[in-house]
Amino acid sequence: MTNPRSPESAAAPGRRAEVLPTHTPALFAAAVERAVACLRAGQAIALPTETVYGLAANALDPAAVHRIYEIKGRPAQNPIIVHVASGPLARACVRTWTDAADRLARAFWPGPLTLVLPRAPIIPDIVTAGGDTVGLRWPAHPFIQEVIRTCGFPLAAPSANPANAISPTHAQHVAATLGHLIPLIVDGGPSQVGIESTVLDISGPVARLLRPGMVHAESLAAVVPLDLEATPAPPPDGPPLRSPGQLPRHYAPRAPVVPLTWRDEAELDRHLLRLLGDRPGTDRQDVHILSHAQIPSPLLAGRVCVIPHDPEAYARALYAEWHRCDELGARVIVVERVPETPAWRGIADRLRRAATPPATQP
Ligand code: TXA
Ligand code: MG
Repeated sequence: MTNPRSPESAAAPGRRAEVLPTHTPALFAAAVERAVACLRAGQAIALPTETVYGLAANALDPAAVHRIYEIKGRPAQNPIIVHVASGPLARACVRTWTDAADRLARAFWPGPLTLVLPRAPIIPDIVTAGGDTVGLRWPAHPFIQEVIRTCGFPLAAPSANPANAISPTHAQHVAATLGHLIPLIVDGGPSQVGIESTVLDISGPVARLLRPGMVHAESLAAVVPLDLEATPAPPPDGPPLRSPGQLPRHYAPRAPVVPLTWRDEAELDRHLLRLLGDRPGTDRQDVHILSHAQIPSPLLAGRVCVIPHDPEAYARALYAEWHRCDELGARVIVVERVPETPAWRGIADRLRRAATPPATQP
């Protein structure tokens, strides 16, 4: 019998994560029981949330949270979001539950909004990367809610991907990249939001948007004062409180992402010829095109995918399309630009970061 707390027991050669479905009440209940047992034993496991899949562990157990950093290869100065499933649990994680926190939580929780607040002493240093604030979120997915309620402790959970890779929006994405490192992946279906939560820092006198998402800045500004022109805020100086969601390059697939617009197919073709000219050894078959408005002929490239021209549907589909491009060996991903309107800002942000070449990483 292996010790469930030892990393080796989960990462033994040849061992693969158990993947548990949740689509009937009995399967849901059995998966809750298994997930809770793993979390109580100090393990890190993959759970569904409505934004992306999370790699969860007991937020109050530093050794369990350490496993998250190890499994992801995550830099120690990157703090982890703490997930709760009730008002009292949220308040237990912070030093002061402010009026702004209360109004934002009432308006947007459960949901894809993370609030950064002064942390309570029960939150270990390793969760906040030594900083004085904690990122808190009450996710909307019923599975993780039930797990948190049953455990009784909050869950630290970053996205369930190796550091610097795309976040997973399907259980299979987690299985492909972390399946050999963790004991359990719970399949809660495709993530309904599809990009990571909006992160709003309300620990200081003025609210600052650290990461745009599908809870839009304009919606937040209706609840708390927020300077819409000044967002997203620059990261605080140096470690430990850098918010890597603000790095120029992040959330990127393996192939370079090239954002383009085209009026018609002839113009797109000129763009493609130029791109291929700049990349000797690549041909049309190596190019995948993600379009939403000007849909080109499938003959133009190795693959043409169409994502609906609707921000909610687009966010839901984007990462799965990028994962697919990686799986199929795309060498260039052409992404049709999206509108720069408030509803598309979180998506435009992810496209911009994915398109930033690695060389500009600080
Ligand atoms: O939707 C999400 O937020 C998903 C799901 C699993 O909840 N989680 C997620 O976690 O995207 P992660 O670790 O991949 O991104 C969390 C972001 C990072 O940019 C991190 O630096 C920032 O939130 N963050 C967390 N705690 C923070 C804090 N105390 N101060 C500033 N930024 C913080
Ligand atoms: Mg992440």
